[in-house]
Amino acid sequence: MAKPPLLVTRHFPEAIEARAARDYAAALNPTDELWSGDAAEIIRRATAISAQGILCAAGDRLDAACIAGLPPSVKLLSTFSVGTDHIDLEAARARGIQVANTPDVLSFATAEIAFTLLLMAARRAGEAERMVRAGQWRGWSPTQLIGVTLEGKKLGILGLGRIGREMAGMARGFRMEVHYHGRRRLPPELEQGAIWHDSEDSFLAAIDALSMHIPGDAGNRHWLNAARLARLKPGAIVVNTGRGSTVEDAALIAALRSGQVRAAGLDVYDGEPMINPGYFALENVVMLPHLGSAAAETRDAMGHRALDNLDAVLLRGEAPPFPV
Ligand code: DGY
Repeated sequence: MAKPPLLVTRHFPEAIEARAARDYAAALNPTDELWSGDAAEIIRRATAISAQGILCAAGDRLDAACIAGLPPSVKLLSTFSVGTDHIDLEAARARGIQVANTPDVLSFATAEIAFTLLLMAARRAGEAERMVRAGQWRGWSPTQLIGVTLEGKKLGILGLGRIGREMAGMARGFRMEVHYHGRRRLPPELEQGAIWHDSEDSFLAAIDALSMHIPGDAGNRHWLNAARLARLKPGAIVVNTGRGSTVEDAALIAALRSGQVRAAGLDVYDGEPMINPGYFALENVVMLPHLGSAAAETRDAMGHRALDNLDAVLLRGEAPPFPV
């Protein structure tokens, strides 16, 4: 049987590209050219090879116009991500194109980055590192760069899903009390003692640090706005490793300036890779470039999961194991 044509939008880890090239007539992107942000270019390339599958990633522009223009040969969009906000799922459904993603395998790594940001924000590690690198450290001082400890503090997890639950496990190791807010209370084996708040108000008022793990759906756009920031305890910490669109940057910047938010740790940004310039002038924000899943083991596992989805649909005519 001829290998099914596969469009690969980004440069993926070596083992993933090798497997893709072994099992598919794969059009790779070894130099990671950034055409994947251009819907017309995705259409052109998919049409040129009569792609049956597209191995894509977060940031690829698979909007309604792109999906409408894909050739009829396309059966599956397999995204190397758990998030699917870059894909117009309705448009894909309307065209009978399946969509699959890579859940679970990145939960721990993403929680590690959330916890890294939480620690860096609490202990002012970003500011401190910048000071040392700038050659401005004059020696130990009893009052220099005093942060706050996490021990005994209340961590509020917005979205106690797979990533949120890994974060909760890490927080328990730091003797934090875990709170969460979500539409439904989870069963005790998933809660692991975390305290559920059915109301946003009681959740925001109870916590010392907020870690955001909600998807970038339209309904979550700018969830963290001025009104909700005002309901946090003064001096709370905010961490976001979910999607940048869930935070209203101008409101968070104002809260960081006023001290209503002591410090923030961000891995994702509204409109990334563009970042609201207001953050750059603030010492009390730590910023990473969307590194949540960027661990070698995790990225390999994501790639294999994305290829497992493609294999099921394109090689065996079955449903993908991780459908969206
Ligand atoms: C995801 O999987 O959605 C991440 O944001 C990319 O690692």
